[in-house]
Amino acid sequence: MTGDLFATHQDEPYAERLGDCTVWLHGFAYNSASALVRAIEEIAREAPFRQMITPGGFRMSAAMTNCGRLGWVTDRTGYRYTEHDPQTARRWPEMPDCLLELATSAAQEAGYSGFAPDACLINRYLPGSRMSLHQDKNEEDYSAPIVSVSLGLPMVFQFGGMARNDKPARLPLSHGDVVVWGGADRLRYHGVSPLKSGYHELTGDCRINLTFRKAGA
Ligand code: SIN
Ligand code: FE2
Repeated sequence: MTGDLFATHQDEPYAERLGDCTVWLHGFAYNSASALVRAIEEIAREAPFRQMITPGGFRMSAAMTNCGRLGWVTDRTGYRYTEHDPQTARRWPEMPDCLLELATSAAQEAGYSGFAPDACLINRYLPGSRMSLHQDKNEEDYSAPIVSVSLGLPMVFQFGGMARNDKPARLPLSHGDVVVWGGADRLRYHGVSPLKSGYHELTGDCRINLTFRKAGA
């Protein structure tokens, strides 16, 4: 029977528990991926992808936009959430139902019922783009989990510990994978290694990551 179990791993969704409070849902978003990518294209027409500047003055290598009531931004004055896109002065686009449903059902599958995200950060990585280890800690409270969806080209997710220098696990995330972490794992350091070039039929030369959070009170 073990053979059967492994045979399904490539093609069918399955959950891999990475600790008490973290679950890697392989392929969970696979079937909704084309609807998600279309919705993201629509969002980007209203709130274009842009490479933001860190408080230290560096340009981030991932291009970002947001949807939902709150959007995560960074500039020379710091990291924060805003209700308006600083580039257009308009509200961030609404979170489309297909994104919200995916996020809440993934959270539920991982054991977090009642997840009500008010923010979805959309990261777009081109070859060479990366994100260094960091904690997600600009939210009002940490009781809700983080739901992270991978679309397009594969990328190595580094999932570390509670200290920056804890050696991170390296998880090769594929198109359609979702990682959910919360509870005791909520403040774990994480990041992604530089994207290798390639081609994906839905996203072309990039990887897109959706990070859903409950950011406001
Ligand atoms: C993030 O932590 O904001 C993004 C992680 C990822 O792209 O997988
Ligand atoms: Fe993050």
